[in-house]
Amino acid sequence: MKVGIIGSGGREHALCHSIKKSDKIDKIFCFPGNAGTENLAENINLDLKNFENLKNFIVEKNIDLIVVGPEQPLVEGIVDYLEKFNIKVFGPNKIASQLEGSKIFTKQICEKFNIPTAKFGIFPNRDEAKSYLNKSKYPIVIKADNLAAGKGVYIAKSYSEAEDAIDEIFNGKFGKAEKVLIEEFLAGEEMSYFTIHDGKIFKNFETAQDHKRVLEGDKGKNTGGMGCYSPSRLINDELEKKIINKIIKPTLKGLAELGTEYKGFLYAGLMIVDDEPYLIEYNVRMGDPECQTILPKLKTDIIDIFISCCNRKLNETKIDWHNKNSLCFVICSKGYPDEYQKNIEIENINKIIQNKDEYMFHAGTIQKNNKIYAVGGRVLNFVTLSEEFKDAQIKIFKNIELLNWDSGFFRKDIGYKVIKE
Ligand code: AMP
Ligand code: GLY
Repeated sequence: MKVGIIGSGGREHALCHSIKKSDKIDKIFCFPGNAGTENLAENINLDLKNFENLKNFIVEKNIDLIVVGPEQPLVEGIVDYLEKFNIKVFGPNKIASQLEGSKIFTKQICEKFNIPTAKFGIFPNRDEAKSYLNKSKYPIVIKADNLAAGKGVYIAKSYSEAEDAIDEIFNGKFGKAEKVLIEEFLAGEEMSYFTIHDGKIFKNFETAQDHKRVLEGDKGKNTGGMGCYSPSRLINDELEKKIINKIIKPTLKGLAELGTEYKGFLYAGLMIVDDEPYLIEYNVRMGDPECQTILPKLKTDIIDIFISCCNRKLNETKIDWHNKNSLCFVICSKGYPDEYQKNIEIENINKIIQNKDEYMFHAGTIQKNNKIYAVGGRVLNFVTLSEEFKDAQIKIFKNIELLNWDSGFFRKDIGYKVIKE
Protein backbone atom coordinates (compact mmCIF):
# COMPACT_ATOMS: atom_id res chain seq x y z
CA MET A 1 0.00 0.00 0.00
CA LYS A 2 1.05 3.60 -0.57
CA VAL A 3 0.21 6.21 2.04
CA GLY A 4 0.52 10.01 2.00
CA ILE A 5 0.85 12.11 5.15
CA ILE A 6 0.09 15.84 5.14
CA GLY A 7 2.10 18.02 7.52
CA SER A 8 5.63 18.72 8.67
CA GLY A 9 5.72 18.60 12.47
CA GLY A 10 6.58 16.18 15.23
CA ARG A 11 3.06 14.80 15.00
CA GLU A 12 3.60 13.86 11.35
CA HIS A 13 7.00 12.25 12.01
CA ALA A 14 5.37 10.15 14.75
CA LEU A 15 2.53 9.20 12.37
CA CYS A 16 5.06 8.32 9.67
CA HIS A 17 7.02 6.18 12.14
CA SER A 18 3.89 4.26 13.20
CA ILE A 19 2.69 3.81 9.64
CA LYS A 20 6.12 2.55 8.53
CA LYS A 21 5.86 -0.28 11.08
CA SER A 22 2.86 -1.75 9.27
CA ASP A 23 3.69 -4.74 7.05
CA LYS A 24 1.12 -3.46 4.55
CA ILE A 25 3.23 -0.46 3.58
CA ASP A 26 5.24 -0.26 0.36
CA LYS A 27 5.85 3.46 0.28
CA ILE A 28 5.07 6.64 2.22
CA PHE A 29 4.97 10.19 0.86
CA CYS A 30 5.09 13.19 3.22
CA PHE A 31 3.71 16.56 2.13
CA PRO A 32 6.16 18.17 2.93
CA GLY A 33 7.58 16.24 5.94
CA ASN A 34 10.81 17.10 7.76
CA ALA A 35 14.34 15.73 8.20
CA GLY A 36 12.94 12.90 10.33
CA THR A 37 10.40 11.68 7.78
CA GLU A 38 13.01 11.90 5.02
CA ASN A 39 14.57 8.64 6.26
CA LEU A 40 11.24 6.80 6.23
CA ALA A 41 9.39 8.36 3.32
CA GLU A 42 9.73 10.53 0.24
CA ASN A 43 9.24 14.18 1.15
CA ILE A 44 7.27 16.09 -1.48
CA ASN A 45 7.09 19.86 -1.46
CA LEU A 46 3.76 20.87 -2.97
CA ASP A 47 1.65 23.95 -2.34
CA LEU A 48 -0.93 22.47 0.05
CA LYS A 49 -3.38 25.26 -0.74
CA ASN A 50 -3.60 23.92 -4.28
CA PHE A 51 -5.81 20.86 -3.74
CA GLU A 52 -5.93 20.09 -7.44
CA ASN A 53 -2.15 19.70 -7.76
CA LEU A 54 -2.13 17.50 -4.69
CA LYS A 55 -4.97 15.38 -6.12
CA ASN A 56 -3.12 14.99 -9.43
CA PHE A 57 0.00 13.80 -7.59
CA ILE A 58 -2.02 11.31 -5.51
CA VAL A 59 -3.73 9.90 -8.59
CA GLU A 60 -0.50 9.74 -10.60
CA LYS A 61 1.34 7.86 -7.85
CA ASN A 62 -1.63 5.61 -6.98
CA ILE A 63 -1.62 6.59 -3.30
CA ASP A 64 -4.16 4.44 -1.46
CA LEU A 65 -4.69 6.51 1.70
CA ILE A 66 -4.09 10.11 2.80
CA VAL A 67 -3.68 10.96 6.49
CA VAL A 68 -4.08 14.65 7.36
CA GLY A 69 -2.02 15.87 10.34
CA PRO A 70 -2.75 19.60 10.85
CA GLU A 71 -6.02 21.50 11.11
CA GLN A 72 -5.57 24.09 8.35
CA PRO A 73 -6.18 21.83 5.34
CA LEU A 74 -9.06 20.11 7.19
CA VAL A 75 -10.78 23.42 7.91
CA GLU A 76 -10.22 24.38 4.25
CA GLY A 77 -12.06 21.23 3.13
CA ILE A 78 -9.28 18.98 1.86
CA VAL A 79 -11.21 15.83 2.84
CA ASP A 80 -14.37 16.82 0.92
CA TYR A 81 -12.25 17.73 -2.11
CA LEU A 82 -10.19 14.52 -2.27
CA GLU A 83 -13.17 12.26 -1.54
CA LYS A 84 -14.92 13.66 -4.62
CA PHE A 85 -12.19 11.85 -6.60
CA ASN A 86 -12.68 8.61 -4.61
CA ILE A 87 -9.44 9.09 -2.67
CA LYS A 88 -9.47 7.55 0.83
CA VAL A 89 -8.71 10.23 3.41
CA PHE A 90 -8.45 9.87 7.17
CA GLY A 91 -9.74 13.13 8.65
CA PRO A 92 -13.00 15.04 9.18
CA ASN A 93 -14.89 16.93 6.49
CA LYS A 94 -15.16 20.71 6.22
CA ILE A 95 -18.35 21.12 8.25
CA ALA A 96 -17.17 18.87 11.09
CA SER A 97 -13.81 20.69 11.08
CA GLN A 98 -15.65 23.83 12.17
CA LEU A 99 -15.39 22.30 15.64
CA GLU A 100 -11.83 23.65 15.55
CA GLY A 101 -12.17 26.26 12.83
CA SER A 102 -14.77 28.32 14.68
CA LYS A 103 -14.97 28.54 18.45
CA ILE A 104 -18.42 30.12 18.05
CA PHE A 105 -19.67 27.11 16.04
CA THR A 106 -18.61 24.83 18.91
CA LYS A 107 -20.10 27.08 21.58
CA GLN A 108 -23.42 27.06 19.74
CA ILE A 109 -23.44 23.24 19.75
CA CYS A 110 -22.57 23.32 23.47
CA GLU A 111 -25.48 25.65 24.16
CA LYS A 112 -28.00 23.61 22.19
CA PHE A 113 -27.01 20.25 23.69
CA ASN A 114 -26.20 21.38 27.24
CA ILE A 115 -22.54 20.44 26.91
CA PRO A 116 -20.66 21.69 29.98
CA THR A 117 -18.40 24.59 28.98
CA ALA A 118 -17.44 28.03 30.30
CA LYS A 119 -20.32 30.54 30.29
CA PHE A 120 -19.86 32.80 27.32
CA GLY A 121 -21.06 35.73 25.27
CA ILE A 122 -20.51 36.49 21.58
CA PHE A 123 -20.05 40.15 20.63
CA PRO A 124 -20.15 41.63 17.13
CA ASN A 125 -18.12 44.79 17.84
CA ARG A 126 -15.75 46.44 20.33
CA ASP A 127 -18.34 48.67 21.99
CA GLU A 128 -20.66 45.83 22.95
CA ALA A 129 -17.72 43.68 24.03
CA LYS A 130 -16.29 46.47 26.18
CA SER A 131 -19.59 47.36 27.80
CA TYR A 132 -19.94 43.67 28.82
CA LEU A 133 -16.48 43.91 30.43
CA ASN A 134 -17.76 46.57 32.84
CA LYS A 135 -20.07 44.02 34.43
CA SER A 136 -17.56 41.13 34.47
CA LYS A 137 -15.47 39.35 37.09
CA TYR A 138 -11.73 38.86 36.54
CA PRO A 139 -9.79 36.98 35.32
CA ILE A 140 -11.82 36.67 32.15
CA VAL A 141 -11.04 34.91 28.88
CA ILE A 142 -11.15 36.68 25.49
CA LYS A 143 -10.95 34.63 22.29
CA ALA A 144 -10.65 35.40 18.59
CA ASP A 145 -13.05 33.23 16.60
CA ASN A 146 -10.67 32.18 13.80
CA LEU A 147 -7.90 29.60 13.72
CA ALA A 148 -5.00 31.38 15.39
CA ALA A 149 -2.45 28.57 15.97
CA GLY A 150 -3.22 28.57 19.68
CA LYS A 151 -2.46 32.27 20.01
CA GLY A 152 -5.91 33.87 19.81
CA VAL A 153 -6.71 33.36 23.50
CA TYR A 154 -6.15 35.97 26.22
CA ILE A 155 -6.56 35.38 29.95
CA ALA A 156 -7.14 38.98 31.09
CA LYS A 157 -6.56 39.78 34.76
CA SER A 158 -8.11 43.23 34.64
CA TYR A 159 -10.44 45.46 32.62
CA SER A 160 -7.54 47.16 30.88
CA GLU A 161 -5.93 43.85 29.81
CA ALA A 162 -9.30 42.67 28.48
CA GLU A 163 -9.80 45.95 26.62
CA ASP A 164 -6.37 45.61 24.96
CA ALA A 165 -7.22 42.06 23.90
CA ILE A 166 -10.47 43.16 22.29
CA ASP A 167 -8.68 45.95 20.44
CA GLU A 168 -5.99 43.58 19.17
CA ILE A 169 -8.57 41.11 17.91
CA PHE A 170 -10.72 43.77 16.14
CA ASN A 171 -7.56 45.40 14.75
CA GLY A 172 -7.05 42.16 12.84
CA LYS A 173 -4.17 40.50 14.71
CA PHE A 174 -5.61 37.05 13.88
CA GLY A 175 -7.20 37.96 10.56
CA LYS A 176 -10.45 39.79 9.96
CA ALA A 177 -12.56 39.60 13.13
CA GLU A 178 -16.33 39.81 12.87
CA LYS A 179 -17.01 38.67 16.41
CA VAL A 180 -15.26 38.13 19.69
CA LEU A 181 -15.95 35.49 22.30
CA ILE A 182 -15.77 36.41 25.98
CA GLU A 183 -15.94 33.60 28.48
CA GLU A 184 -15.81 32.78 32.14
CA PHE A 185 -12.41 31.70 33.49
CA LEU A 186 -12.52 28.08 34.65
CA ALA A 187 -10.11 27.24 37.47
CA GLY A 188 -9.16 23.56 37.31
CA GLU A 189 -6.66 21.22 35.69
CA GLU A 190 -6.53 20.65 31.94
CA MET A 191 -6.42 17.30 30.18
CA SER A 192 -6.69 16.14 26.59
CA TYR A 193 -9.10 13.36 25.70
CA PHE A 194 -8.72 11.75 22.27
CA THR A 195 -11.21 9.71 20.27
CA ILE A 196 -11.05 8.11 16.84
CA HIS A 197 -14.17 8.00 14.65
CA ASP A 198 -15.38 6.16 11.54
CA GLY A 199 -18.55 8.20 10.96
CA LYS A 200 -20.67 5.60 12.77
CA ILE A 201 -18.88 4.74 16.01
CA PHE A 202 -15.89 6.00 17.97
CA LYS A 203 -13.29 4.63 20.38
CA ASN A 204 -11.04 6.22 22.93
CA PHE A 205 -7.54 7.02 21.63
CA GLU A 206 -5.82 7.65 24.98
CA THR A 207 -5.43 10.72 27.17
CA ALA A 208 -2.60 13.16 27.86
CA GLN A 209 -1.69 16.35 29.65
CA ASP A 210 0.50 18.88 27.93
CA HIS A 211 2.43 21.90 29.11
CA LYS A 212 1.41 24.80 26.89
CA ARG A 213 3.31 27.62 28.60
CA VAL A 214 6.89 28.38 27.64
CA LEU A 215 8.38 28.77 31.15
CA GLU A 216 8.86 26.34 34.01
CA GLY A 217 6.05 26.23 36.54
CA ASP A 218 3.55 26.64 33.66
CA LYS A 219 4.29 30.37 33.35
CA GLY A 220 4.92 32.71 30.43
CA LYS A 221 3.45 32.79 26.95
CA ASN A 222 1.33 30.09 25.37
CA THR A 223 3.10 27.85 22.84
CA GLY A 224 2.10 24.93 20.65
CA GLY A 225 3.19 22.65 23.52
CA MET A 226 6.52 22.28 25.36
CA GLY A 227 6.04 18.69 26.47
CA CYS A 228 3.47 16.19 27.53
CA TYR A 229 2.71 12.96 29.35
CA SER A 230 0.25 10.14 28.83
CA PRO A 231 -1.98 8.93 30.36
CA SER A 232 -3.46 11.96 32.08
CA ARG A 233 -3.19 11.77 35.85
CA LEU A 234 -6.86 12.80 36.07
CA ILE A 235 -8.55 10.06 34.06
CA ASN A 236 -10.65 7.33 35.71
CA ASP A 237 -13.68 5.31 34.60
CA GLU A 238 -16.19 7.65 36.15
CA LEU A 239 -14.67 10.76 34.58
CA GLU A 240 -14.40 9.00 31.22
CA LYS A 241 -18.12 8.16 31.29
CA LYS A 242 -18.93 11.81 31.97
CA ILE A 243 -16.69 12.97 29.11
CA ILE A 244 -18.33 10.56 26.67
CA ASN A 245 -21.93 11.10 27.76
CA LYS A 246 -21.88 14.83 28.48
CA ILE A 247 -19.45 16.01 25.82
CA ILE A 248 -18.53 13.65 22.95
CA LYS A 249 -21.90 12.03 22.25
CA PRO A 250 -23.92 15.28 22.33
CA THR A 251 -21.36 16.85 19.96
CA LEU A 252 -21.86 14.02 17.46
CA LYS A 253 -25.60 14.52 17.81
CA GLY A 254 -25.08 18.20 17.01
CA LEU A 255 -23.14 17.29 13.86
CA ALA A 256 -25.83 14.77 12.87
CA GLU A 257 -28.45 17.52 13.12
CA LEU A 258 -26.35 19.54 10.72
CA GLY A 259 -26.49 16.57 8.36
CA THR A 260 -22.91 15.45 8.80
CA GLU A 261 -20.78 12.95 10.70
CA TYR A 262 -17.28 12.67 12.07
CA LYS A 263 -14.35 10.64 10.70
CA GLY A 264 -10.82 11.04 12.05
CA PHE A 265 -9.21 11.95 15.33
CA LEU A 266 -11.10 14.25 17.67
CA TYR A 267 -9.21 15.98 20.46
CA ALA A 268 -11.24 17.41 23.32
CA GLY A 269 -9.34 19.98 25.39
CA LEU A 270 -11.00 19.78 28.80
CA MET A 271 -10.84 21.62 32.09
CA ILE A 272 -11.57 19.30 35.02
CA VAL A 273 -13.18 21.24 37.86
CA ASP A 274 -14.11 19.23 40.98
CA ASP A 275 -14.19 15.96 38.99
CA GLU A 276 -16.48 17.47 36.35
CA PRO A 277 -15.31 17.88 32.73
CA TYR A 278 -15.84 21.20 30.90
CA LEU A 279 -15.09 21.57 27.21
CA ILE A 280 -12.50 24.28 26.57
CA GLU A 281 -11.99 23.59 22.89
CA TYR A 282 -12.08 20.93 20.21
CA ASN A 283 -9.27 20.15 17.79
CA VAL A 284 -10.09 18.06 14.74
CA ARG A 285 -6.76 16.23 14.68
CA MET A 286 -4.22 14.70 17.03
CA GLY A 287 -2.38 17.10 19.31
CA ASP A 288 1.25 17.99 18.86
CA PRO A 289 3.16 16.85 21.04
CA GLU A 290 0.34 14.58 22.31
CA CYS A 291 0.54 12.46 19.14
CA GLN A 292 4.27 11.82 19.59
CA THR A 293 3.60 10.92 23.22
CA ILE A 294 0.67 8.56 22.57
CA LEU A 295 1.54 6.71 19.34
CA PRO A 296 4.55 4.79 20.72
CA LYS A 297 2.10 3.15 23.17
CA LEU A 298 -0.06 1.80 20.33
CA LYS A 299 0.20 -1.98 19.77
CA THR A 300 -2.35 -2.35 16.95
CA ASP A 301 -1.28 -1.76 13.34
CA ILE A 302 -2.24 1.89 12.75
CA ILE A 303 -3.01 1.21 9.08
CA ASP A 304 -5.68 -1.34 10.09
CA ILE A 305 -7.21 1.37 12.27
CA PHE A 306 -7.15 4.08 9.58
CA ILE A 307 -8.53 1.77 6.89
CA SER A 308 -11.31 0.51 9.14
CA CYS A 309 -12.25 4.15 9.86
CA CYS A 310 -12.36 5.00 6.15
CA ASN A 311 -14.55 1.88 5.57
CA ARG A 312 -16.89 2.67 8.49
CA LYS A 313 -15.81 -0.58 10.18
CA LEU A 314 -13.99 0.58 13.28
CA ASN A 315 -16.18 -1.82 15.28
CA GLU A 316 -14.18 -4.68 13.71
CA THR A 317 -10.78 -3.38 14.87
CA LYS A 318 -9.65 -3.71 18.47
CA ILE A 319 -7.24 -0.99 19.58
CA ASP A 320 -4.58 -2.33 21.97
CA TRP A 321 -2.06 -0.33 23.96
CA HIS A 322 1.18 -1.02 25.82
CA ASN A 323 0.45 -0.54 29.47
CA LYS A 324 3.26 1.98 30.00
CA ASN A 325 3.66 5.64 30.80
CA SER A 326 4.93 7.98 28.11
CA LEU A 327 6.80 11.24 28.57
CA CYS A 328 7.73 13.78 25.88
CA PHE A 329 10.11 16.75 26.06
CA VAL A 330 10.16 19.31 23.24
CA ILE A 331 13.44 20.99 22.30
CA CYS A 332 12.84 24.48 20.91
CA SER A 333 14.96 27.14 19.24
CA LYS A 334 15.96 29.93 21.64
CA GLY A 335 13.47 32.78 21.35
CA TYR A 336 10.39 30.59 20.65
CA PRO A 337 7.43 31.38 20.76
CA ASP A 338 8.66 34.83 19.64
CA GLU A 339 11.38 35.39 17.04
CA TYR A 340 14.01 32.66 16.78
CA GLN A 341 16.95 31.98 14.50
CA LYS A 342 16.55 29.66 11.55
CA ASN A 343 18.93 27.39 9.65
CA ILE A 344 21.07 26.54 12.67
CA GLU A 345 22.86 23.22 12.44
CA ILE A 346 22.09 20.53 15.04
CA GLU A 347 25.47 18.83 15.17
CA ASN A 348 25.13 15.98 17.63
CA ILE A 349 21.89 14.47 16.41
CA ASN A 350 23.60 11.17 15.52
CA LYS A 351 24.61 10.66 19.15
CA ILE A 352 21.00 10.34 20.35
CA ILE A 353 20.08 6.97 21.86
CA GLN A 354 17.01 5.45 20.21
CA ASN A 355 15.83 1.97 21.07
CA LYS A 356 12.64 0.04 21.76
CA ASP A 357 11.18 2.55 24.20
CA GLU A 358 13.22 5.66 23.37
CA TYR A 359 12.25 7.79 20.40
CA MET A 360 13.34 11.03 18.79
CA PHE A 361 10.79 12.72 16.54
CA HIS A 362 11.79 15.66 14.39
CA ALA A 363 9.60 18.77 14.09
CA GLY A 364 11.05 21.96 12.53
CA THR A 365 14.09 20.39 10.87
CA ILE A 366 15.44 20.00 7.35
CA GLN A 367 18.28 17.96 5.93
CA LYS A 368 20.85 19.55 3.60
CA ASN A 369 24.09 17.87 2.47
CA ASN A 370 23.76 15.21 5.15
CA LYS A 371 23.47 17.80 7.89
CA ILE A 372 20.39 18.58 9.98
CA TYR A 373 19.28 22.20 10.45
CA ALA A 374 16.61 23.71 12.71
CA VAL A 375 14.07 25.75 10.76
CA GLY A 376 11.08 25.87 13.15
CA GLY A 377 10.37 27.00 16.71
CA ARG A 378 9.77 23.50 18.00
CA VAL A 379 12.62 21.39 16.69
CA LEU A 380 12.87 17.92 18.25
CA ASN A 381 10.80 15.71 20.54
CA PHE A 382 12.28 13.15 22.91
CA VAL A 383 9.74 10.52 23.90
CA THR A 384 10.33 7.63 26.31
CA LEU A 385 8.02 4.87 27.54
CA SER A 386 8.57 3.37 30.99
CA GLU A 387 6.85 1.84 34.00
CA GLU A 388 7.69 4.95 36.05
CA PHE A 389 7.73 8.48 34.64
CA LYS A 390 10.93 9.15 36.59
CA ASP A 391 12.87 6.53 34.56
CA ALA A 392 11.65 8.11 31.34
CA GLN A 393 12.77 11.54 32.55
CA ILE A 394 16.29 10.24 33.39
CA LYS A 395 16.67 8.75 29.91
CA ILE A 396 15.42 11.90 28.20
CA PHE A 397 17.79 14.11 30.22
CA LYS A 398 20.66 11.87 29.11
CA ASN A 399 19.68 12.33 25.45
CA ILE A 400 19.32 16.10 25.84
CA GLU A 401 22.82 16.15 27.33
CA LEU A 402 24.13 14.17 24.36
CA LEU A 403 22.43 16.62 22.01
CA ASN A 404 24.22 19.49 23.74
CA TRP A 405 22.66 22.02 21.38
CA ASP A 406 23.55 25.62 22.31
CA SER A 407 20.83 27.20 20.19
CA GLY A 408 18.04 25.24 21.86
CA PHE A 409 16.15 25.26 25.14
CA PHE A 410 13.58 23.08 26.84
CA ARG A 411 11.42 22.99 29.97
CA LYS A 412 13.08 20.81 32.61
CA ASP A 413 9.87 20.35 34.58
CA ILE A 414 7.70 18.51 32.03
CA GLY A 415 5.52 16.03 33.91
CA TYR A 416 6.30 17.49 37.35
CA LYS A 417 2.87 16.50 38.64
CA VAL A 418 3.42 12.80 37.86
CA ILE A 419 7.17 12.37 38.39
CA LYS A 420 7.85 10.94 41.83
CA GLU A 421 11.28 12.00 43.12
P1 AMP B 1 -7.77 27.30 23.58
O1 AMP B 1 -7.02 27.78 22.37
O2 AMP B 1 -9.24 27.59 23.56
O3 AMP B 1 -7.44 25.87 23.94
O4 AMP B 1 -7.16 28.09 24.81
C1 AMP B 1 -5.77 28.07 25.06
C2 AMP B 1 -5.55 27.89 26.54
O5 AMP B 1 -6.17 28.95 27.26
C3 AMP B 1 -6.19 26.63 27.10
O6 AMP B 1 -5.39 25.52 26.93
C4 AMP B 1 -6.37 27.01 28.55
O7 AMP B 1 -5.15 26.87 29.25
C5 AMP B 1 -6.70 28.46 28.50
N1 AMP B 1 -8.15 28.68 28.52
C6 AMP B 1 -8.97 28.77 27.47
N2 AMP B 1 -10.24 28.95 27.86
C7 AMP B 1 -10.24 29.00 29.21
C8 AMP B 1 -11.24 29.17 30.22
N3 AMP B 1 -12.51 29.39 29.91
N4 AMP B 1 -10.85 29.15 31.51
C9 AMP B 1 -9.56 28.95 31.84
N5 AMP B 1 -8.57 28.79 30.95
C10 AMP B 1 -8.89 28.80 29.64
N1 GLY C 1 -0.63 20.58 22.04
C1 GLY C 1 -1.75 21.32 21.70
C2 GLY C 1 -2.27 21.18 20.35
O1 GLY C 1 -1.86 20.35 19.56
O2 GLY C 1 -3.16 21.94 19.98
